[in-house]
Amino acid sequence: MTRPYRFPDGFLWGAATSAYQIEGSPLADGAGPSIWQRYAHTPGMMANGDHGDVACDHYRRYKDDVQLMRALGLKSYRFSVNWARVLPEGTGRVNAKGLDFYSRLVDELLENGIVPNATLFHWDLPAALDDRGGWLNRDSAHWFAEYAAIMFSALDDRVPYWSTLNEPWVVVDGGYLRGALAPGHRNLYEAPIVAHNLMRASGAGIQAYRAHGRHAIGVVFNIEPKYPASGSAEDLAATRRADAYMNLQFADPALLGSYPPELRDVYGEAWPDFPADDFRLTRQPVDFVGLNYYTRAVVRHDADALPLRAVPVHQPHRTHTETGWEVYEQGLTDMLTGFRRRYGDIPLYITENGAAFYDPPTVEGALLQDPLRTDYLRRHLEAAHRAIEAGVDLRGYYAWSLLDNLEWSLGYAKRFGLYHVDFATQQRTPKASAQLYQRVIESHGEVLGEP
Ligand code: BGC
Repeated sequence: MTRPYRFPDGFLWGAATSAYQIEGSPLADGAGPSIWQRYAHTPGMMANGDHGDVACDHYRRYKDDVQLMRALGLKSYRFSVNWARVLPEGTGRVNAKGLDFYSRLVDELLENGIVPNATLFHWDLPAALDDRGGWLNRDSAHWFAEYAAIMFSALDDRVPYWSTLNEPWVVVDGGYLRGALAPGHRNLYEAPIVAHNLMRASGAGIQAYRAHGRHAIGVVFNIEPKYPASGSAEDLAATRRADAYMNLQFADPALLGSYPPELRDVYGEAWPDFPADDFRLTRQPVDFVGLNYYTRAVVRHDADALPLRAVPVHQPHRTHTETGWEVYEQGLTDMLTGFRRRYGDIPLYITENGAAFYDPPTVEGALLQDPLRTDYLRRHLEAAHRAIEAGVDLRGYYAWSLLDNLEWSLGYAKRFGLYHVDFATQQRTPKASAQLYQRVIESHGEVLGEP
């Protein structure tokens, strides 16, 4: 019998989460507030008035959650560090108790045979740094390097995988252009400055790693492949702008040391002239790149849709998730092969992939049936395997997410977890997708492709 979906030995099967989305206790043990703490407590910003005060209570239940990972057979766990737990003012004084939480989490993972993969910045900037201008301040690169060096010195003896930033595009677009995420600005002129400073910070963090670390560091991008709605010159140009804005704006300065020319067209007079020297900082050698994939966009020209003059075209007769995203697994293969074409052979990890779907009520003692999420997982794992067959150096896959959690300003109603969380009781219940994933991991992928 042929085994068409067997993954390479040593493939890192994982699941991912982020600090503000799961930890709760955001101000415990001397932590400073983050911009998400402030945003979530600003009336009107969050669906249903939700916030991260308790979330999945992971800060107190992390040992139990590591047992859930173990039950899945996870080889690795990707989490993020809340900067303001470690440095309550963002720079300067270290809060030993905050650092200790991550140290205990790492030890617990290692004791259970799970490789820790730490992300330094998953959107929760210390509020004290926002007060100093946040990512608009060019000093943010130095603040970040200071924080990164502290984390490397404390944990690099036990953490073999590090990422500087998670999805800088979301910070720029949601946080500074459209205001739908913290810190809630709506300013076209700020967006390219923030993007640039984020990539300078990432570069400075990687430089700090070369001085303090001895394993592997990379950066995590969300790549959404863009496909033209038609062959017209206008739609093709709109597609290139959308791709430059969401994808190349971050990966190009990091990996090529430049920006794609379309960005000048996107930003118009808001596009600044950046010092040429900055690109020496943004372009640091990385050990790997993490790519998060959720969906694609089919793009059409629209002169009124500023700043991009491009809009996504809804694809009828296809499955869409609860966040409105089309299920399109071929996009994951295209993303991986396209990334390799543009940037060469860099070790890649899928650092997030998953879907929010409506889940039925839990039944005591029974697996929660989530056929749409299970199907999504299966299709995307098969698509990842096709990319490996096409020659992509894909080293691992992290499902988003281990647990249902706070989907940022959309609140707790959008459930992405392999485990269902009852937020009133903190009861965790495995879903059928978790069971599939466990079987995939155990069989190195061989159960994929089975009827
Ligand atoms: C982020 C996660 C988020 C997920 C689903 C990514 O954009 O890294 O924090 O929950 O996608 O929207």
